[in-house]
Amino acid sequence: MSLHGRDLVSIRDLSREEIEQLLAAARKMIPVAEGSKTASSLADKIVAMAFFEPSTRTRLSFEAAVQRLGGRCLTIADAGATSMRKGESLYDTIRMLSSYADAIVLRHPNEGAARLAARASERPIVNAGDGAGQHPTQTLLDLATMQEAFGTLTGLKVVLLGDLKYGRTVHSLAFALAQFGSEIVLCSPPSLRLPDDHREELRRAGARLSVEPDVRRALADADVLYVTRIQKERFSDEEEYHAVAGSYRVDNALLAGTKPRLIVMHPLPRAGEIAPEVDETPHAAYFRQAFLAVPVRMALLNEILGPTRRGG
Ligand code: NCD
Repeated sequence: MSLHGRDLVSIRDLSREEIEQLLAAARKMIPVAEGSKTASSLADKIVAMAFFEPSTRTRLSFEAAVQRLGGRCLTIADAGATSMRKGESLYDTIRMLSSYADAIVLRHPNEGAARLAARASERPIVNAGDGAGQHPTQTLLDLATMQEAFGTLTGLKVVLLGDLKYGRTVHSLAFALAQFGSEIVLCSPPSLRLPDDHREELRRAGARLSVEPDVRRALADADVLYVTRIQKERFSDEEEYHAVAGSYRVDNALLAGTKPRLIVMHPLPRAGEIAPEVDETPHAAYFRQAFLAVPVRMALLNEILGPTRRGG
């Protein structure tokens, strides 16, 4: 695998083999992420965090990853504090930033922003979420969580619950699950179904895909329940949002008849979709998932910024 110098805009930019190798590298990074082992592979590197949309986990886990590897960060955490307020374009902002840093991690409200940034930048761009588009590094840590729980990514039955229309995490994850040969069950309110172009692409990729609007039925034999938040900020019409707000909630009663080893995942933040009582059950995997963001992002940055490797 050589990801050296490459952009990561979409999960499609990575082959199945590259994903597997990244996950293996991430497992080795766990002690470094926990602080029980030190590393300095990014000692001379600066990574820019260009976040033009709210973020807690993604930005802080990227920063933790850089700092645990001895690198430094330049951070934009608030678009209002940059010259974009004065009308500077994203293109110019990124072009300039790429002369200050060795790589740029970008989050932006517009779908396609990361692709544009990759054209503007002389350095690698990592997409940390572009509107309702893609969130490939979230997918890597989602896969790491499933692999840790089940030892495999093949043959799992994964229910994707919630906002499948605007949720970028599921847009990236579904494609990766198809690549690994897991079964995908789509469960959403009718107005938030997975857009047709995504479905068609998944079918073309050979996905085992079904739709089950009834969450109880969807959960029969499921290994993973992947819950998403309704992406309120993406709705153009507030009434459309209110029509679906609170339409699903995962609690212990819902999980009662499921497989004992079923894991509940969520990219977080949650906004009422998972009752706090679930946190105390062995099903809850979302806090482990949030931790695994650090070793996964370490492994990725090491590959992108590390020395070129041949034949590996
Ligand atoms: C997600 C996102 O930003 O797409 N959060 C995250 O990165 N962990 C999910 C969300 O905001 O609902």
